[in-house]
Amino acid sequence: MAADKYTVLISEEEIEKRVKQLGEQLSSEYAGKKILLICTLKGAVIFASDLARSIKAPCELGFVKAKSYAGEQTTGSVDISFEDLPDIKGRHIIIAEDIIDTGLTLKKLSEYFLAKEPASMKICALLDKPSRRKADITADYIGFKIEDHFVVGYGLDHNERFRNLPFIAKLEL
Ligand code: IMP
Ligand code: MG
Repeated sequence: MAADKYTVLISEEEIEKRVKQLGEQLSSEYAGKKILLICTLKGAVIFASDLARSIKAPCELGFVKAKSYAGEQTTGSVDISFEDLPDIKGRHIIIAEDIIDTGLTLKKLSEYFLAKEPASMKICALLDKPSRRKADITADYIGFKIEDHFVVGYGLDHNERFRNLPFIAKLEL
């Protein structure tokens, strides 16, 4: 399998513009509140870093590790570790996710967080692949809707490669 050929799907400039818009939207919707922005590792790390810097409201960062992919195949089971998370109870949490594919990861994460009684919980996903959904999950904020492509870059990987590309690219598998 050649995993080196890719074509740019969303440019660096488009991402920057859209992430700024999302930040502005969150800044006005959460004015006067303190956000706990929870980044899902590793895929959302670049998105969450840029998003956090475009949010004007006070914003604390938290991290969870969620793993469901091996290569370009979803494994169907979601492995999540919740170490070092601040208290969720009574907090306004926003889960920053790189991409919603089957939705299984976010379903598991949102059930976990809702059980901790946050004051509010929203999902902000950079990318959405609605055609592959298995779990009943919709994001409150979405950067871009995409077709069923395997994409890399801006945090997303294929076997740990390509996360550092500044754009989103479609991998030719
Ligand atoms: P879900 O549980 O199927 O929604 O999978 C979500 C996770 O799988 C995302 O957070 C990504 O880390 C990973 N993933 C899904 N689609 C892609 C893709 O096209 N490229 C890279 N990673 C992906
Ligand atoms: Mg992810």
